[in-house]
Amino acid sequence: MAGKARVEVFESKGDVAAAAAARVAAAIDAAQGRREIVTLALAGGSTPRALYQSWAASPDGMAWSKLHVLFGDERCVPPEHGDSNYRMAREAMLDALAEAGHLPAERVFRMKGELEPRAGAADYARELAALFGLGAGEQPRIDVVLLGMGDDGHTASLFPGTRALDAQPGDVVVENYVEKLDAHRLTLTAHCINAAREVIFIVTGEGKAPALREVLVGDRDEQRYPSQLVAPTDGQLTFLVDRAAAAELPRTHEYITRIDHGADA
Ligand code: 6PG
Repeated sequence: MAGKARVEVFESKGDVAAAAAARVAAAIDAAQGRREIVTLALAGGSTPRALYQSWAASPDGMAWSKLHVLFGDERCVPPEHGDSNYRMAREAMLDALAEAGHLPAERVFRMKGELEPRAGAADYARELAALFGLGAGEQPRIDVVLLGMGDDGHTASLFPGTRALDAQPGDVVVENYVEKLDAHRLTLTAHCINAAREVIFIVTGEGKAPALREVLVGDRDEQRYPSQLVAPTDGQLTFLVDRAAAAELPRTHEYITRIDHGADA
């Protein structure tokens, strides 16, 4: 992992959000010139909210015209439910971007958490197959996959010790039962994420420091730290983290490619 991942450490959560916005915009801009369908898979949880709000507040920094927005995972709840990742993204940016004409609803592909989980996974796999023109067993090559990381080292809804970690190479989207949450989830598989052109983790807060250390420099234990499964086959992997989340990373390790001391440096 460490040999492949770029790790950039920033002073604050705000600096991480700004760096993520710039990095995604650059990747989408580059893709824009090469393909008619440009794709960005959103992370759920709370960390990306500020990033999404910044896109709604300043849409001109991103090339929206060919962008198709996907989701990396979803809770198995209706779209209006308080736990829905789609609802978070809709309230943070999707409604505003649609209203402003940048991102019409037909270019937003939500996972249908309201369906029975297996049906929801199959439905999303069909959506992606149609969007990317996939043959049987093929993985979509998403331009940018945004990921968060839990304090247990999970990412998307790839939780420690859950069956989604054992998805088959041809599985694109699976349903996953997470015992500790007593909840079902829908998630892109690690195989799908690793087919992406660029994967960007955004990880902030001291609560993530122990898991981030294990994921980046700990022993390989993908069942215990599923974020270790993320290793793009032919793509860039970057961790954008704040100092609090990086607090337990050994500074001497060569993988830290940048330490940004923020504006007041
Ligand atoms: C989800 C996410 C999940 C999230 C991490 C971090 O549906 O919850 O996709 O993988 O990124 O749990 O969540 P926070 O950003 O809230 O810490």
